[in-house]
Amino acid sequence: MKLVSFASLKGGAGKTTGLMAAASGLRLRKVRVALFEADKNDPLKFWRENALENDTWDEDCKIFEASSAKQFEQSFADAQRAGYDLALLDLEGGESELNTTAIVSSDLILIPVSLTALDIEYGIQSFQFVRRVLQDNDLSTPVAFLICRFPSGKDKLTKADKESLEILSKLPQVSARIPTRAAYADLAVSGMLHLYYEGLAEDPALRVMRFSVRPAMKEAEELAKDILDGLAMEPADANS
Ligand SMILES: Nc1ncnc2c1ncn2[C@@H]1O[C@H](COP(=O)(O)OP(=O)(O)OP(=O)(O)O)[C@@H](O)[C@H]1O
Ligand SMILES: [Mg+2]
Repeated sequence: MKLVSFASLKGGAGKTTGLMAAASGLRLRKVRVALFEADKNDPLKFWRENALENDTWDEDCKIFEASSAKQFEQSFADAQRAGYDLALLDLEGGESELNTTAIVSSDLILIPVSLTALDIEYGIQSFQFVRRVLQDNDLSTPVAFLICRFPSGKDKLTKADKESLEILSKLPQVSARIPTRAAYADLAVSGMLHLYYEGLAEDPALRVMRFSVRPAMKEAEELAKDILDGLAMEPADANS
């Protein structure tokens, strides 16, 4: 089982949102995904509870506790034994034993970052922290930025946005982006993106909303593709 961690020293960077989008994109490709919850506020459990109420939870996704280094190791072994292909880990902010253990165990580390100057600064600090942990352990695990809250639709890039993109262009990043969209802001309540999207087709009154959710679905698929490429993993047979 491969492990992808969403890491950032800064709160609110987009770790949980990025993970939720990735989980849907990976499920669209039939990858069996384990979700590891390191955040003590339990955002993933909350997400699942809401999704179960809305019939938008994918039972091939299971949440495992990972609120300490020891628990993470136990959950990793459990998920591996249960046959999951891939695990996504929503890390806590800051430096901790859990973060170090998770970074060392990861096959890919994604650092969500939005384009504000402060986010870029924290993003680079997070990148340096992750790289230092990897170097200290003689590891060359890929680390990449995931640009979140990218201006969407008609919103033009500001001069500051362009400067941030220029800085990030010199650093590793995945090609998928998570723009600012209501579909992402609503994820914690609407549930898994692909099932929410399917559900909208069934209700004629809601069908029109599919137009606003569809771009997010495409982005989630692109993110899943970047993740699978980054891990050099073949997607599961879509017909299986
Ligand atoms: N692309 C987006 N479009 C709209 N809203 C977004 C987007 N990305 C994140 N948000 C919103 O921004 C807030 C912070 O995002 P998120 O919870 O994903 O960050 P985080 O890094 O997990 O934060 P924390 O450190 O608190 O766990 C959330 O309310 C989320 O809904
Ligand atoms: Mg979070």
